[in-house]
Amino acid sequence: MTETAQSFGRLNDHAEWRYLLREFELAYRHGQAGGSSKIRAHMKEVRLRLAAAIKSNSSVLECVGQRLPVCAHLHRALDNGMEGAMRSLVRTIEVVADRLDWRYGYDRLPKGLEKKYGFAEFLGPQGPVVCNDLTLGVVLFAPQCTYPAHKHDGITESYICLSGAASENDSGVYTPRSMILNLPGHTHRITTSDHEPVLLAYAWAGSADSLARPEMNFKRK
Ligand SMILES: [Fe+2]
Repeated sequence: MTETAQSFGRLNDHAEWRYLLREFELAYRHGQAGGSSKIRAHMKEVRLRLAAAIKSNSSVLECVGQRLPVCAHLHRALDNGMEGAMRSLVRTIEVVADRLDWRYGYDRLPKGLEKKYGFAEFLGPQGPVVCNDLTLGVVLFAPQCTYPAHKHDGITESYICLSGAASENDSGVYTPRSMILNLPGHTHRITTSDHEPVLLAYAWAGSADSLARPEMNFKRK
């Protein structure tokens, strides 16, 4: 999306976005919380906010298919993801893949990320499906990428791995269907494996204010 994104009707006019959002809803309904009450509570919060957006028949803004260098890895990531546990969600992403708007989200991009990172949103304050208290999207990493340590103030973030293998804070390896929860203020750093890209679905839950102007604070060494 750009700041001049055009209105493109309502959600009920766009089966492709409805099915994609339904797959998110299913992922946050049937995904495993691993006994964590914090993860379970976050999953419920995402479901409730998503259900409200769907019920309100949210506005849809037009995407223009803005690409970044990392998009060279997108179809490999989707192909791999279609063989994994999250294939239903991956298939709905493939339907809209060519029209997604990929962005960096930073005024000054951390060194080394220019060709290895980008994200695209499906739902959020800037659309394409407009929602003020929840952001849903995907982040794509090339192989051998290090996404530097950062934190989000006022936003609870979760990732669901859709394709490839990633590690967060060197404390575990996450493959398709794995969920990672980053509570507000939690510093996290992501690395990806040597030969295959990583596609993570993400959800940000926060106030309308914090989601409209998300601050990604990088930790200086
Ligand atoms: Fe993050």
